[in-house]
Amino acid sequence: MLFLLVACVTPTDDLPLESDDALWTDARAMLDENCARCHTAGGQAQSFDDPATASSMAASMIAAVDAGRMPPVAPDPSCAPYENSDTFTVDDEEIATLRAWADAGGPTGSAVADPPPVTAQSAPFDAELYGGAAYTPDFGADGNDYRCFLVPLGNDGVVYLTGMEALVDALPIVHHVVLFETTGTTGIPGDVTDPTQGFACSGLGAVGWDFLGAWAPGANPVLFPEGSGMRLGRDAQLILQMHYYDSFDGADELADLTGYGLHLADTVERKVQQFPIGPTGFNIPAGDAAYVVSDSIPAGDPGLELLGVWPHMHVLGSGFDERVVHNDGSESCLLHQDGWNFHNQVYAGLSTPLRLQTGDSLSVSCTYDNSASSEDVNFGEETGDEMCFGFTYVVDAE
Ligand code: HEC
Repeated sequence: MLFLLVACVTPTDDLPLESDDALWTDARAMLDENCARCHTAGGQAQSFDDPATASSMAASMIAAVDAGRMPPVAPDPSCAPYENSDTFTVDDEEIATLRAWADAGGPTGSAVADPPPVTAQSAPFDAELYGGAAYTPDFGADGNDYRCFLVPLGNDGVVYLTGMEALVDALPIVHHVVLFETTGTTGIPGDVTDPTQGFACSGLGAVGWDFLGAWAPGANPVLFPEGSGMRLGRDAQLILQMHYYDSFDGADELADLTGYGLHLADTVERKVQQFPIGPTGFNIPAGDAAYVVSDSIPAGDPGLELLGVWPHMHVLGSGFDERVVHNDGSESCLLHQDGWNFHNQVYAGLSTPLRLQTGDSLSVSCTYDNSASSEDVNFGEETGDEMCFGFTYVVDAE
């Protein structure tokens, strides 16, 4: 009788169960890799750093992943290989790791040392630019405050920007940061009384402001390929444009001193440039669930290589696509996203730059879902308006 019972036991039951320590060690590594760039202390989303908190959220974590809500939608890895793309999307094995831990009740083991969460720090910097003094946002009725700070670089000759990273201070209220360069005074009021407190400005910048880079939650530092950089003229006038938003009760009591860390070089072998590509002046009809706008420009310069794209839309965005269309009709995908998360607009840097060919054109299209509204939405700079840009970075070909 006893013999028969033993024979009925299936072979898998004989395998030792993975220990709680092992489950937690694997889950911790998975969370650090895929979630910690947002879910960390002081971050834009609930921190998973503390093992007890992580454990209590285990079931909701796997539910959010299964439902496709988390991690937020990212560039489709089948379009092109990207740098850091491993931290944008989760693969089946990673999901299985999270599930095994969640199914076991989210154990945190007994003596597992927590590896430090992933931080995207590219310090030391050659320059760190800040607005001057901490600023307490003044949210308007719509809960937004666009504030610009002049941050002169003070360089006595031409320098090249070889990389940059936003140094975000009050994360919960910082919606995005944009770094511009300007040579003139357009868009800068002449009567700023306290420069450390900046001035009110538009989210689009102003005529004559050149876009250098931007940050949104989850963004990694941008480092251009070895020996390349963007030219900054003598005494470069940089403008730090902050978009603050009233994200929680008590947000209006937070002060912020965000800055930008810059990597600089006196000379580079290859110059990097950035072009905003996309349609302007469009109108998205009320009630339309999948309205597409697009634009295409000739870009057949074989002296240039494409480095990457920073996609930009506002809240109605539901899809983004940028591709190179070649002379013979074939295409090279640069960035494709089915879905869009306003809170996760990050630079998608190609892991291998793509050389342009004679006859190429660059084409950008954005899809919007305006089905919930009875009003048309126009192109514009405020959060309630819409935009469609692929900020496209190119470098002189090798
Ligand atoms: C790029 C930033 C970012 C990344 C990466 C990210 N999250 Fe989130 N997550 C957020 C933000 C912001 C919120 C809160 C707002 C919201 O619900 O969209 C959130 C909310 C959540 C919530 C609670 C709300 C819900 O949808 O259930 C869970 C659970 C969650 N995330 C799990 C995860 C897990 C697990 C990962 C990694 C596999 C992850 N997130 C990666 C930004 C991120």
